[in-house]
Amino acid sequence: MKKINAIVRASKFEAVRDALAEKNIHFFSFFEIKGYGHAKGEHRTYRGAAYDIGYIARIELEIILSDTFVAPAIEAILSAAKTGEKGDGLITVTPIEQVINIRTGFTGSEAINS
Ligand SMILES: Nc1ncnc2c1ncn2[C@@H]1O[C@H](COP(=O)(O)OP(=O)(O)O)[C@@H](O)[C@H]1O
Ligand SMILES: [Mg+2]
Repeated sequence: MKKINAIVRASKFEAVRDALAEKNIHFFSFFEIKGYGHAKGEHRTYRGAAYDIGYIARIELEIILSDTFVAPAIEAILSAAKTGEKGDGLITVTPIEQVINIRTGFTGSEAINS
């Protein structure tokens, strides 16, 4: 069992969701986040002067997956989220010790698939 976190451009969120669905990955959580990175943030003007507010709005997806789905998920995210320009984001993969489905009480892979 693994957890994938993917920080992507907000503009790529729908494409990533659809690419995951094509790999039969239909369940995930997502968060509207702000990030600092290589890409320069937005500028705001205040009384005629431009200020760099630095951060950029992004979407973070969090997906709990059986190990066999990890490679397909990464492929899907890369294919949908990559522009090649600074700011494309990051994918991390973390081992998960235990998953319990609150409704069914099932654990492990059954918790995800039930
Ligand atoms: N080391 C990091 N830890 C956590 N989040 C990061 C890290 N590096 C980048 N990010 C996230 O990814 C976003 C894109 O990173 P950025 O460095 O701009 O992209 P790239 O490396 O593709 O040029 C950032 O705005 C931030 O949300
Ligand atoms: Mg970077």
